[in-house]
Amino acid sequence: MSSEKRAPQHVAIIMDGNGRWATSRGWPRLVGHRKGAERVKEIVRCAPDLGVKWLTIYAFSTENWKRSTEEVLGLMGLFSRYIEREADRLSAEGVRMRFIGDRSRLDDRLQRLMAGIETRTANNTRLNLTVAINYGGRDEIIRAGRKIACEVAEGRLDPADVTEATVSAMLDTADIPDPDLVIRTSGETRVSNFLLWQAAYAEYEFTETLWPDFSPAELERILSRFGGRDRRFGGVAPA
Ligand code: FPP
Repeated sequence: MSSEKRAPQHVAIIMDGNGRWATSRGWPRLVGHRKGAERVKEIVRCAPDLGVKWLTIYAFSTENWKRSTEEVLGLMGLFSRYIEREADRLSAEGVRMRFIGDRSRLDDRLQRLMAGIETRTANNTRLNLTVAINYGGRDEIIRAGRKIACEVAEGRLDPADVTEATVSAMLDTADIPDPDLVIRTSGETRVSNFLLWQAAYAEYEFTETLWPDFSPAELERILSRFGGRDRRFGGVAPA
């Protein structure tokens, strides 16, 4: 693999710290999520100028249902409003928006909005924005395993022919390249069930910054550090 400096094509972000950002100011957690949604807009806007072609953000995990009803409903409302209010701008700026995760548990209106913006932006190519909602890496792998089991049971697939490519093609990210870089904000250094299969060779960057304070300038700094890394994908550096 080349060690030539380049921007990562696919950046995935675990946007953590909204709750702490708000509670440290004596505000409700939802205020932090609202501020976090503003950051999403800003980062989506600057990403293509920084050479990023694919941006995947973790908005709601399969574990996040354990939060209070108020917080869960507040987050779902934010997702709907983001789609409704940003649709024109995303379309005009060449952003293709997609979603990964199990949508079946989301309310019908949100599911319709998600399907609508996916269709509306399907031909855009400047930035591929993927939002993970009700997403969990293990859940995604289980769902892929079930699809493979059905193919085998119905005689369309020989178990001996199951390869990495077969599994990748059954994941929610079937049409999306693997991330080069995963960033997690807020000082936590866990993977938290995010892109478990896809991030097998990704670099990780952890920053203390809480997501509502994460800026395009910090993203740019992280990307330039990444540009200096030598990614060998299990091989050895060229002489
Ligand atoms: C983690 O912070 C953040 C979330 C669970 C929600 C992420 C959602 C957004 C950034 C807002 C909207 C997104 C879109 C796509 C419009 P946390 O609440 O776990 O923070 P804490 O660890 O400080 O409690």
